[in-house]
Amino acid sequence: MADSLDIVRSVADLRSRVQYWRDQGLRVAFVPTMGALHDGHLSLVRAGLELADRVVASVFVNPTQFGPNEDFSRYPRQEERDAALLDGAGCHLLFAPTVAEMYPAGFATKVSVTGVSEGLCGGARPGHFDGVATVVTKLLLQAQAHLALFGEKDWQQLTVIRRLVRDLDIPVDVVGVPTVREADGLALSSRNAYLSDGDRKIAPALHRALQAVAAGLREGKSASELCHRAAADLLAAGFLSVDYVEARAAADLTPLDRLDRPARILAAARLGGARLIDNIAADPA
Ligand code: PAF
Repeated sequence: MADSLDIVRSVADLRSRVQYWRDQGLRVAFVPTMGALHDGHLSLVRAGLELADRVVASVFVNPTQFGPNEDFSRYPRQEERDAALLDGAGCHLLFAPTVAEMYPAGFATKVSVTGVSEGLCGGARPGHFDGVATVVTKLLLQAQAHLALFGEKDWQQLTVIRRLVRDLDIPVDVVGVPTVREADGLALSSRNAYLSDGDRKIAPALHRALQAVAAGLREGKSASELCHRAAADLLAAGFLSVDYVEARAAADLTPLDRLDRPARILAAARLGGARLIDNIAADPA
């Protein structure tokens, strides 16, 4: 285990550590993760250090956001490595609860965000955003930080979290942090570890497909045609299947066909043993 990064496993210990800092007038940032950390997660810690005096990260592979045939059991778990990376990035505290701490016997509550949870990943992964919304609500109430940071790579997740924080009056500022990419455009993701060497070479086609849609929208073309072509290009590049390629309004994920508001182009597709997701912005001139 890392020498200097403190790890707490109970909600009571987390709360008392954060309360101690708050009593000293310090600002606290919170970075929820499922571990298997990469530079995208560390960019959240770095952004937290810019905005606050103390940064708390959590590592919890949340069972309720995985479907029955998804990768919960094989999701990479590497707490010692994660703790060392967080320590190196300047994080002050790691909250790493057990499943029993998060979901004690008798647990019976679900947070469900309508509208923005529907379609896209919510359509392809039924129940996923209920699991995310429930665990994030719990984590935010447990940590009681001033701000919480989430990656823009999961744009729909970020939109769901902004909605639930507003709807439930949770006193925290939600901060979105831009996606970190490899030099060839592939968005960093813990699930990139599932890619074979051959699939890794194909994977940047996802980002290129999004860029092609964004460029076409800026030229005034229709989103539905552009997205249809992008999905075909992904299959031609070697992706096994495409869950969706869509253009949506950036703020509330309502569908759009022309670039008449700030948009997000979002896609999810399967490549080898991985389901990759990505999105980029497309703004009107
Ligand atoms: O983005 C993630 O890693 C997870 O969905 C989150 C927000 C930590 C909730 O489990």
